[in-house]
Amino acid sequence: MSTKLIVGNWKLNGGLSANQALLDGLRDGLGAVRCRAAVCVPHPYLAQVQLLLAGSPIVLGAQDVSAHTAGAYTGEVSASMLRDFGVRYCIVGHSERRQYHGESDELVALKAKQALAHGITPIVCVGESLAQREAGQTEAVVKRQLAAVIHENGHCISEIVVAYEPIWAVGTGITASPEQAQQVHAVLRAQIKAATAHAERVAILYGGSMNAANASDLLAQPDVDGGLIGGAALKAADFLTILRAAS
Ligand code: G3H
Repeated sequence: MSTKLIVGNWKLNGGLSANQALLDGLRDGLGAVRCRAAVCVPHPYLAQVQLLLAGSPIVLGAQDVSAHTAGAYTGEVSASMLRDFGVRYCIVGHSERRQYHGESDELVALKAKQALAHGITPIVCVGESLAQREAGQTEAVVKRQLAAVIHENGHCISEIVVAYEPIWAVGTGITASPEQAQQVHAVLRAQIKAATAHAERVAILYGGSMNAANASDLLAQPDVDGGLIGGAALKAADFLTILRAAS
């Protein structure tokens, strides 16, 4: 995977004027950017951001999708609804959804399947807690989480993006070292290679306190194909620095 992919995850942040200001701030600095880029925005702002990104190299993403197609599922948003607003990527299985909403590997796999069925690339998040890392379970945890999606999606595995996000690094300011990230990415790469003849299509992103200062070193690792950025994606200057580091 040569062209890197940088995805901003705005999480539960933003507003009509803040979104406009952030995207205005990004627009002028995109000239030197050669990587692929996306922003995953809260559902209510999809229409606004779709309009603001018209003609931009940055594409639109969402942060979650229903495992269901339609029906009596109050509060859910389907993949076809996301598609109506031009969504190209959708995060599934973020650790915050696994932790605060009890999402299981099986549910994450169904969400990925829904996204794929509607032409949306799922960004499948995997990652271990600090306790799991300290217990030497990192490899087993991320392989189990990814295996659920591979099993559910069969031949479509080559159409997903994987994001390795160690939970202890998410929003903490503690970043995995480039060596720690590479070690887990290599494990995931091997697992993907064993599952598809088109493993080279699958980008493996690193996420967890990636910022303007550490992005270059992380992105220099051979199996780090890009980044999933939280906090640093909310500041235009920082996000642009990361986009340039990936270009
Ligand atoms: O989805 C993004 C990740 O959770 C990383 O968030 O960059 O704020 O640590 P962070």
